[in-house]
Amino acid sequence: MNFSELARNLGGPKNPLYLLHDRLKAEGRPIVDLVRGNVNEHGIVYPRAALDEILSGAAEEARIYRPDSLGQEPARRAVASYYASLGVSPQHILLTPGTSVSYWYCFKLLAEAGDEILCPRPAYPLFDYIATLCGVRLTHYRLLEARGWAIDLDHLEHQITTKTRAIVLISPHNPTGMVADAAQLSGLAEIAGRHNLPIISDEVFSEFLFGIDSLPRAAATAAPLVFTLNGFSKMFALPGMKAGWMAVTGDDALVKQAMSALELISDTFLPVNEIAQFAVEKIFSRGQEFLKSYREWVTACRDRALAGLSGAAFVEPRGGFYITLPIVDSEENAAAALLEKNGILVHPGYFYDIDPDHLVMTFIHDPESLTSHFETIKKTIGHGGLLEPGEKP
Ligand SMILES: Cc1ncc(COP(=O)(O)O)c(C=O)c1O
Repeated sequence: MNFSELARNLGGPKNPLYLLHDRLKAEGRPIVDLVRGNVNEHGIVYPRAALDEILSGAAEEARIYRPDSLGQEPARRAVASYYASLGVSPQHILLTPGTSVSYWYCFKLLAEAGDEILCPRPAYPLFDYIATLCGVRLTHYRLLEARGWAIDLDHLEHQITTKTRAIVLISPHNPTGMVADAAQLSGLAEIAGRHNLPIISDEVFSEFLFGIDSLPRAAATAAPLVFTLNGFSKMFALPGMKAGWMAVTGDDALVKQAMSALELISDTFLPVNEIAQFAVEKIFSRGQEFLKSYREWVTACRDRALAGLSGAAFVEPRGGFYITLPIVDSEENAAAALLEKNGILVHPGYFYDIDPDHLVMTFIHDPESLTSHFETIKKTIGHGGLLEPGEKP
């Protein structure tokens, strides 16, 4: 029996931090997980009565199977109105089972095996796996911690080769919390235009901004072609709904060509649950109050985490669910010590391709105990471990 090389090599050995985690769990030690960022685990769930009604209505509408390869039109219209300020046509929206699958579609649409996709470094490791599955190679452009994790546009342009097929933008960024401003985006768009490259803009944290009124969007620039990716997973705390989308904008001819190929790719699998598709419009319209309180909850979590870290030097997140903390000590030792001694799970920065030494953690947790967990982090690694303001990482 033969398994492909890909299948044989996907997993890899378990990391020492997770071996320690598994041992502590087996011993019955309680663990504070500051890694997953799953709001559902902390009581943030889409209102149940509304969801029940929405889903039972949607099930009725989906009873007779009449698929649309772009996704059901009412859902695409609802997504298009979410981007009202951009004037996106529902014809240029494609429903997907989530952002991860949207990435996969984009990579398949834009690149041959061996071609390159230019991604930010650091980043959430999701793309590595998707790129492996697609047979494309990831290359990286730098985010500069000393400039609040801003995109290093010069470095980015230097990474473009004859094999580069797309630039990935993640804003709000996971795990640094960077939100690219309009000037950065217009610089990025200019580079994309000069090299005739599309931008894949991951906006899954678009609703969670701190001190910023509205998200600057790549789709609002003059870039030749932009795929804006988002979905209900983070936006409405509905990861299990498996409802996401991409909005395709830019030069008319390019958008048209992209949409017709995407329609074929999507038609091959028709992967989005029809009940979920018929629920999209109402999840948007009936979820606004919930979204408001959910945003306030996330902001309160962030504030409490920052209160626990007061006096430490790090780039405060402007969006998303994560904090990246520069430390003096070895990040692997610090993560292991926090887990072993204090039962707090955080990640060493190298999981996200960050230069040593950093710890990465989410502030999504029970708000009541957040300040104290972050004080513990500060205390535990504070003895020569945390950077002082003004100290260079
Ligand atoms: C930056 C980023 N993009 C995409 C995803 C995956 O999104 P989805 O659940 O819609 O597949 C995540 C998940 O945490 C993420 O952090």
